[in-house]
Amino acid sequence: MKRIVILISGRGSNMLSILDSDLPVIVAAVISNRADSPGLDIAKARGLPALAIEHRNYAAREDFDSALAEKIDGYSPDFVILAGFMRILGNDFVARYSGRLVNIHPSLLPAFAGTRTHRRALEEGVRIHGCTVHFVTEKLDHGAIIIQAAVPVLENDTEESLSVRVLEQEHKIYPEAIRWLALGRLKLEGHRVLLGNPGMQPDALISPSLDAR
Ligand code: GRF
Repeated sequence: MKRIVILISGRGSNMLSILDSDLPVIVAAVISNRADSPGLDIAKARGLPALAIEHRNYAAREDFDSALAEKIDGYSPDFVILAGFMRILGNDFVARYSGRLVNIHPSLLPAFAGTRTHRRALEEGVRIHGCTVHFVTEKLDHGAIIIQAAVPVLENDTEESLSVRVLEQEHKIYPEAIRWLALGRLKLEGHRVLLGNPGMQPDALISPSLDAR
């Protein structure tokens, strides 16, 4: 079975969705850049190796990245899974795990790369928002896209309500993307990820619905 190391920074709900999804992977460790991440307690309660490498203890980004990579490599993972990991990783780190490093981002990339995605989606007035699982490359939030889920933006949405609906979809798509990765189903062709047999595809997600009167 393939081995994964999950990197988190906070509550760890995406990590939990991965742990609960009966995936064909061994979760070798969960690592946070913050010792007070609630997600670390969840991982420990599941009997998983869970540890923190505090980014604050490193003056330079590269030093933190090296310490992190050294720890990760100690668990010999096939894939490194960023699940709400809120540190930007340097080019050397990204190159070291090229093709083996994936992230979940709370927007329909390439729209709204970076932070505060839900607020920006509301400010821009988009009608459809969502989340993306992608390979990590040197350019922030721009690696090849594995899977996306879209949700309608409702007229009474707040940043909070929108984030809740997007998160629900994150918890569905991330485990599935990891399953495909672990099973070797994903093929990278240029900037596109091909998944041999993608199943039934919806015609469209239209928002507001054409039923609006
Ligand atoms: C998620 O919305 C993820 O997409 C973003 O940060 C949030 C982390 O949530 N990068 P959690 O720690 O997985 O609950």
